[in-house]
Amino acid sequence: MASTVLITGASQGIGKATSHLFASHGYNVVLAARQADRLETTAQELRATGHSATAIPTDVRQPDQVNLMVQKALDQYGSIDVLVNNAGIYISGPAEEFSLEDWHQAIDTNLWGYIHAIHALLPHFLARQAGTIVNVGSIGGIVPIPYLTPYSTSKFAVTGLTRSLHSELAPKGIHVCGIYPNIIKTNFLERAIFRGKNADDLRSRQNQVSQLVDTPVIEKADDVAKAVWNAVKHKRDEVVVGSANLSAVSNQLLPNLVQWVLRKTFQHKDS
Ligand SMILES: NC(=O)c1ccc[n+]([C@@H]2O[C@H](COP(=O)([O-])OP(=O)(O)OC[C@H]3O[C@@H](n4cnc5c(N)ncnc54)[C@H](OP(=O)(O)O)[C@@H]3O)[C@@H](O)[C@H]2O)c1
Repeated sequence: MASTVLITGASQGIGKATSHLFASHGYNVVLAARQADRLETTAQELRATGHSATAIPTDVRQPDQVNLMVQKALDQYGSIDVLVNNAGIYISGPAEEFSLEDWHQAIDTNLWGYIHAIHALLPHFLARQAGTIVNVGSIGGIVPIPYLTPYSTSKFAVTGLTRSLHSELAPKGIHVCGIYPNIIKTNFLERAIFRGKNADDLRSRQNQVSQLVDTPVIEKADDVAKAVWNAVKHKRDEVVVGSANLSAVSNQLLPNLVQWVLRKTFQHKDS
């Protein structure tokens, strides 16, 4: 019987690339994201290539919706083998410019979204004494990133969630792993939140990230999808993706210098 993977944030970017890769390895794919039309398009692409895919529109910030999504997936496929927590948003600006609503957007999606899915699926995994949880984190969850404070806060929390669950659940037959990419070429700017000291500062921040995303050398969604696949296949605890290794090691060896560089890079008109 084919294995089943449930992927949040599966309508585009890293989640979509991961859906295609798991489908190509014979998995049934359950896709979750908010916008039903986009999600269904991805599911249809998978079905068109002969794979089983089910789109379940879900806002991961809402525990009732996540519970219902997991229940529907279990009704359809009988069991779930792998959960890929991936739905997330980017948020950038000086710390004092974020409203509490901005903070909630970041943490409710990037952290609570992951907790909701784990909370809903863990009883199923424990009953089977099997299952894999993959949390797509970020280099911003290993290296503190100034001017990305709500994002880095959410991703450091995801790192803690991943590492502590890994330790607790390994003896119970459940594998938990973390994936830590650097900036990746996706359309994350569509839903990113930017705040600034003024219009100039805001524009400068937006322009910097869109230029960075357009740089041909940065890694692609497929690179992260491969990291997710390898983590599941080879039971890796953590995969730091490509160039993120350099950032992690530099920050370990020369934290003051790295933090100075990051501050200068993301300071813009905040002086
Ligand atoms: N791209 C990067 O540079 C980068 C670097 C490091 C880590 N990451 C992490 O990788 C993950 C995916 O990033 P990406 O670049 O692929 O992002 P993306 O292109 O913006 O895609 C985000 C996906 O998440 C869904 N989503 C957002 N909010 C949601 C919510 N509340 N409920 C359910 N689904 C939601 C989106 O669909 P809807 O809007 O329709 O819901 C979409 O499918 C994130 O966790 C991100 O932090 C990305």
